[in-house]
Amino acid sequence: MKVSDRTNGVEYAIRDIILHARKYESNGGQVIYLNIGDPVKYDFKTPDHIKSALINAVKDNKNYYTDSEGLPELKKAVTEKESQKGMSVTEDDVLITNGVSEGLDMILASIVDPNSEVLMSGPYYPPYSSYVKFYGGKPVEFRINEDGRPDLEDLISKITPRTRAICIISPNNPTGEVFDRKSLQQLIDVAAEHNLYIITDEIYDKIVFDDQFTGIGKVSKDAPVILLNGFSKSYLMTGWRCGYVCFNSNASGLDELRKNVPKLARVRISSNLPVQVAAVEALRGPQTHIIDMVEKLRKRRDYIVKRLNAMEGISCRIPHGAFYVFPKVNLDRYWEDDQQFVLDLLSKTGVLTVQGSGFGKAFGSSHFRIVYLPKEEVLEQAMDKLEFFMHESYK
Ligand SMILES: Cc1ncc(COP(=O)(O)O)c(C=O)c1O
Repeated sequence: MKVSDRTNGVEYAIRDIILHARKYESNGGQVIYLNIGDPVKYDFKTPDHIKSALINAVKDNKNYYTDSEGLPELKKAVTEKESQKGMSVTEDDVLITNGVSEGLDMILASIVDPNSEVLMSGPYYPPYSSYVKFYGGKPVEFRINEDGRPDLEDLISKITPRTRAICIISPNNPTGEVFDRKSLQQLIDVAAEHNLYIITDEIYDKIVFDDQFTGIGKVSKDAPVILLNGFSKSYLMTGWRCGYVCFNSNASGLDELRKNVPKLARVRISSNLPVQVAAVEALRGPQTHIIDMVEKLRKRRDYIVKRLNAMEGISCRIPHGAFYVFPKVNLDRYWEDDQQFVLDLLSKTGVLTVQGSGFGKAFGSSHFRIVYLPKEEVLEQAMDKLEFFMHESYK
């Protein structure tokens, strides 16, 4: 039977790799999973006040369809949060979605036509390119310099009459890079000059280690900025699926998009109501768990970066946010590419990571991504295995 051609470009290396891990397990091996960025699978648990809010919502019979654009109280709470970060946003500028993933899908569905191009910094989080391809467009990667700033010359050289948008993720997945105010301003200026949408994903906004986080709202002014954010990471609600889209209320170029995206929201009826009630509690209730989480992660980051940089053939930059490292590996004559490296590592040690090319070949090749969410003892075990593997391979 025929399937649609458009699904051909859809890839998600982070989960696609699990098939290999299952095979390893079915042969009796034990896998150390360092592939998926889900803190709730490790020692970070959804805070009790958020869990209670969900349970109470269900018991109070808040189990019906709600407004397609989202629960009004949650839209209000989102407005409060994002305004504090500097974004110009009113309740009418907010749309609640089943995770950032759904928001991203709706936005790209609304702006990508066949053959249009979407710029994204490389390496990128895979759904950005998958959705662009799914809607017939072409993802185009631009370079980030060694100092963590966008390479403006590279970016500008890749803008064509077909370019529709620039995507920014800060803090970044997979690199953990955090854009400072100057970088954000430069990206906004380029987008404004070329009449491009700016799609910004701030899902890791509260997971930063070194410098103060700067939100895109601080520099947006009247630029056509679309902000994506959600509850999966900072509020430990990954499995509940809740996120949102905010349109810059001062932007003049977003009128058509703002009419179109809610149509997609109405077709899918609404997002999960009890979870939206809990999300209000997440935003308005105690925030202390975030401080604890960031402190734990900072220690794990420091540990893993130190271990990796002490290994033969591996070099790793220090990430400033999120919970990923993206080390470079010297493949030399030992491995054909980074996928072969990752599969060899899995088959010899049971350590599951993700090949860097799964985050875009242009800038992800010869790298691999590690999630450093597990406890130190698990990370230590994984790093010992990796170190031994590297040593044996280079012999
Ligand atoms: C940059 C980025 N955006 C979005 C998501 C997915 O978010 P959600 O769980 O809200 O769909 C992830 C998950 O890893 C991510 O890293």
